[in-house]
Formats: sequence, C-alpha cells, structure tokens
Amino acid sequence: MSELSSLPLAATNDLSALRRTVADWKLKGLQVGFVPTMGALHEGHLSLIALAKEKADRVVASIFVNPAQFAPGEDFDAYPRTLDADAAKLAHAECDLLYAPVASDMYPDGFSARLSVEGPARGLETDFRPHFFGGVAIVVAKLFNRVQPDIAVFGEKDYQQFLVIRHMVRDLDLPINIIPGETLRERDGLALSSRNAYLSAQERSTATSLNEILAAFTADLEKGIDWETAQGKALAKAANVFDRVDYIEARCAETLSPLPAGPVLQPARVLAAVWLGKTRLIDNMPVG
Ligand code: PAJ
Repeated sequence: MSELSSLPLAATNDLSALRRTVADWKLKGLQVGFVPTMGALHEGHLSLIALAKEKADRVVASIFVNPAQFAPGEDFDAYPRTLDADAAKLAHAECDLLYAPVASDMYPDGFSARLSVEGPARGLETDFRPHFFGGVAIVVAKLFNRVQPDIAVFGEKDYQQFLVIRHMVRDLDLPINIIPGETLRERDGLALSSRNAYLSAQERSTATSLNEILAAFTADLEKGIDWETAQGKALAKAANVFDRVDYIEARCAETLSPLPAGPVLQPARVLAAVWLGKTRLIDNMPVG
C-alpha cells in the first residue's frame, strides 16, 4: 500500500491486498470488471471505466507502464507518468480500486516467461514493433491472473491489440469476457491518446488529417471501389501530410487477415500508423 494510501480512491501495489479485495467481492457474488492502462489517463480511458461499470459490479483499473512492450529507443522513459491526476480522474469515475504494481514485482530478477502470439498479431503493428504484442500479451496475461476479472474492457483505438487479447483469452481458456470500447475522439476527429501530449501545436493541427484520410478510405470502400485503388489513394494522401507512414491498410475485421482482391464484400477495418516528428499516431475505423 504505502504511498498509494494518500490517493483519493482505494489503491494498492500489493498483490495480496488486491487478491483479498477481489476475493471478498467474489464471495459476495459481485462481478468484477477490469480496465488495464499505462496511465496518463484521458476521457478515452475513462469511457472504458464507465463501460466496465455498466457491465460489472466492481471495477479495477491498473496503471503500469509496461517495459516489456517498449523496444530500446522507444518512448518508455518519456512516457507520461501522472499518477496523482490519474487517481483523481479514476475517483471521479467511481472506479473501485486502482492497482499500480511496480516493475520489480511484475518482472522479478530472472523473469523468463514469454508469450508468443500470432493470428491477429501478424503484420500491421508487428511489422514495425516486432516485440510489441509479445510484451502486451505477457503483461495482460499476468494482470488477468492477478486481478481475476470476469470481464475486461479494451479500446477499439488499439484494434489489433483488442483482437490479440480476445484471441489469447480464447486460446488460453481464460474465463474472461473481453469487451470492446469505442474510440473517443477530439472534436476535430483526432483519436484521444496519451501520446498526443508529445505533439507541437503545428503537429496537433496536422494530426487531424489521419481521421480524414481514414474516413475517405472507408467511404471509398463503402462505394465499392476495390481496396487496392482506395488504399493507394489513402497512402498517397498520407505520404503528403505525415513525416512517415508505417502502414495504411484495409483488413478483415475479425481476423485482420488480408482481404481478397477487389471490392470489399465482408466486414472490414481500415488501420493506420503514421509519424509526425517524434510522435507515432495510430487509428482505425470500421468499414460499413
Ligand atoms: P493504454 O495505451 O494506456 O490504453 C489503455 C486502454 O485504453 C486500451 O484498451 C486502449 O485501447 C484504450 N484507449 C486508448 N485511447 C482510447 C480512446 N481514444 N478511446 C477509447 N479507448 C482508448 O493499451 C495499453 O495502454 C497497453 O498496451 C495495455 C493494454 C495496458 C498493456 O500494457
């Protein structure tokens, strides 16, 4: 417990305390919801807490900037850490418990387990951050084992992550219902993200183009234009606006596998990752 005891909601970094609280709720027949985060909370995260509160009787949020999902040279050190402000927001959202473990407890000396995920983890983010979903899978599996929730909510903002976790839970027979939460956006369409804090004023005004380019890509696909042509158009626009384009792709909405050639005749999703200066933006949208 220690320094977390001064926060405006029940908070712990102690696994036994977490387990006692959750076991006590379960003894009372209460359903437990869980929202894992890396903190620097914004309205998008809080919408997931609200959804978890609708679906469960008690809600645990975790804050843990997970070193395993950052490669050397990525923004692990720069990632915003705003525990006091986050706790105030969680208290306001009536989150029942904040679990904020420390890295040495999550990954003690000699930690050697790895989780390798394929299926929806193939391509897209993995082509550019090959370590990423292994790191996400191991931390989420550990957090699930620690919290033992009945449901867990993941944002569609990170659509590939949501599918990877849903797939992992199925493959590992974890008795947890994975629920998607819609992407919350700024008025100009930019998806809320903790990393938006890195954007300069000029980059911030350019960032809205990602939403526009994805919306136009989606509209083209909905008109029946073949995905190869529509994707080429979206890529050309993005290459003009952004400093670098990692990917802009249309994929099968359920498996994220590539689409058959031609017009899109099945549930699909467009997904993108682009760079403005030092900031990597990701976003996605459903087709249809
Ligand atoms: P983080 O980036 O903090 O995101 C936590 C959750 O909030 C994720 O499920 C993410 O998809 C969701 N989220 C982010 N922006 C959102 C938005 N604009 N609208 C709705 N939901 C949004 O994703 C992670 O942390 C980590 O990878 C984690 C799963 C915690 C594992 O370390």
